[in-house]
Amino acid sequence: MCTSCEKKTYYVTTPIYYPSSKLHIGHTYTTVAADAIARFKRATGYDVKFLTGTDEHGQKIEKVAQEKGLEPIVFLNQQVAEIKSLWDKMEISYDVFIRTTDDYHERRVQNIFKKLHEKGDIYLGQYEGWYCTPCESFWTENQLKEGNCPDCQREVELTKEDAYFFRLSKYSDRLIDLFENNPEILEPKARINEMVNNFIKPGLEDLCISRTSFTWGIPVPLDEKHVIYVWLDALSNYITALGYSEDETEFDKYWPADVHLVGKEIVRFHTIIWFSLLMALEVEVPKKVFGHGWILLEGGKMSKSKGNVVDPVVLIERYGVDALKYFLLREYTFGQDGVFTNEVLLNRLNADLANDLGNLVSRSIAMIEKYNNGVLQKTTAATDFDADLVAVGLGVSSKLEERMDRLDYSNALEEIWKFVRRTNKYIDETAPWVLAKEEANKETLNNVLYHLAESIRLIAVLIGPFMHHTSDKIFTALGVTDEQAKNWESLQTFGVIPSGQTVQKIDTLFPRIDIPKELEALAALNPTEEKVEAVEVEVAPTETIKEDVPLLPEITIDDFAKVDLRVAEVIACEKHPKADKLLVLQLQVGNEQRQVVSGIAQFFTPDDMVGKKVILVANLKPVKLRGIESQGMILAASDETALALVSVDMPSGTHIS
Ligand code: MSP
Repeated sequence: MCTSCEKKTYYVTTPIYYPSSKLHIGHTYTTVAADAIARFKRATGYDVKFLTGTDEHGQKIEKVAQEKGLEPIVFLNQQVAEIKSLWDKMEISYDVFIRTTDDYHERRVQNIFKKLHEKGDIYLGQYEGWYCTPCESFWTENQLKEGNCPDCQREVELTKEDAYFFRLSKYSDRLIDLFENNPEILEPKARINEMVNNFIKPGLEDLCISRTSFTWGIPVPLDEKHVIYVWLDALSNYITALGYSEDETEFDKYWPADVHLVGKEIVRFHTIIWFSLLMALEVEVPKKVFGHGWILLEGGKMSKSKGNVVDPVVLIERYGVDALKYFLLREYTFGQDGVFTNEVLLNRLNADLANDLGNLVSRSIAMIEKYNNGVLQKTTAATDFDADLVAVGLGVSSKLEERMDRLDYSNALEEIWKFVRRTNKYIDETAPWVLAKEEANKETLNNVLYHLAESIRLIAVLIGPFMHHTSDKIFTALGVTDEQAKNWESLQTFGVIPSGQTVQKIDTLFPRIDIPKELEALAALNPTEEKVEAVEVEVAPTETIKEDVPLLPEITIDDFAKVDLRVAEVIACEKHPKADKLLVLQLQVGNEQRQVVSGIAQFFTPDDMVGKKVILVANLKPVKLRGIESQGMILAASDETALALVSVDMPSGTHIS
């Protein structure tokens, strides 16, 4: 609560974006969603803080800048200017834009580091990784390409470097309690099970939070050969932006955040790591993290031949910012993945914006002009359809608020569109062109025209947080200038426009698109080869910690068909006598038995494994691992902090395709 203004506060954040390459439609999606909830909360009376920004440290940025022959900060300034200009074009109403290179952020992250260190939650240990000497880069096992450096393909060696670690493992129980007692803290809810069962229960490892192998980062206080690495720097932005550890006035006012909006691939970092860091700092955790789905291109990639346009600037230039925002929020269910194609976009724009809304406004204004010289007249000559129209209209705001509180943008907009369609139906029901034939119907006709104008006013108020240009244009058409007739409270009253007010014609809100022609035009705008590549990697991000695991080269379906995947049940399991990290599993695969040696001993005991259904790569050439034959391998997802086995509940031996 804001004590000086008595308003309730609302703090919403986007992830801070990597400014290493151009932002595409996927990044725009998170930011548009944050903008809509920020505008919605402001309209409904909240004191809102909306934070976005850029994540500017790390080896990747250092390298890209070096390749361009620029100092990192010079390169970053250019990139950030471009991102800010994109948000300006999208009319994103952020209150604060944080850069992790901002002095105040760097100082406050160092304060956080010191506090955690003093508490004993940070300690000096050793980080083990594969080191490429010419590139001066550390790689995880997964990142290697055929055992070599993924950048230069040269040999790498297993090396250790001193590094600071955060005691993430210490917070497992508290995290499990937190999820159990506060199920609203992470949405969609299914993600809670994923976090608890796939990551926390199998065992969290302490998190490496410093590096000495590159310099582009915030120096570790009192040990400046280290820079602070990855998530400690990035996640802290949500509190450093509010003054945490220095001037905490804003922090006291807005924290805990009402919602962190993030893509699903970084939910884990925003819950497991971020919540643990906050617990260690003795700071409240945010009220909610919402992990939204990805916008994918067909087949997960950009299809050059189809000419899909994923550059938001091009889309804004062609259809306008309101149309793009509407499309993103209405077309996709916020917690789920969705596929973007030019056809999907154009069909949605034509159906909802040109037909439903655009036609409603242009038909209504044209009829008011034609049948009553543009003058609105309140009368008491009711029709049988008025009561239902008014009831539907006055009922939208509460439904909308409820949907928006759940960040269910698509259905929130659908609530408004139900009323748009109801109003169009009212025109058909009352048939003003028939009423206009008889002078005796004049009062009834004016009543109908007034109801249309007032319904359109309600619609203009309702769409304000999502499409403010369209909202303003509709107010202009209706001649509504009084703020009292435009604000959220005015949604409680039907009949706000004064009798005698004049309407005016405006340009078509959303011109109807000739879809086949437009598809051709879009195809002709095919991005260059270079842009396609950038998008292909980023559009479907993989679950990584900051240093992305590069996608492997494309394979055909025939290549994939060579892999024989089977469901297998673990019938016995023991530790490898000569290697701490290995377990020796006996598997039942249909009628056959197999022995597999697997590097999962840090995450599972032999007892944990017995009875589990796993997925076996059954036609892998047998190898000996520390003297014991392994006849295949089992599938797991893993990174530096966790490992989850891939499993399906089907009879052993079942073929997976
Ligand atoms: N810098 C980190 C976040 C640190 S937050 C403390 C990061 N940056 S990012 O630029 O790679 O991506 C940021 C966000 O962009 C993702 O979490 C997601 O919200 C959004 N998207 C990127 N590609 C996307 C799609 N294809 N679809 C939808 N959103 C995706 O991760």
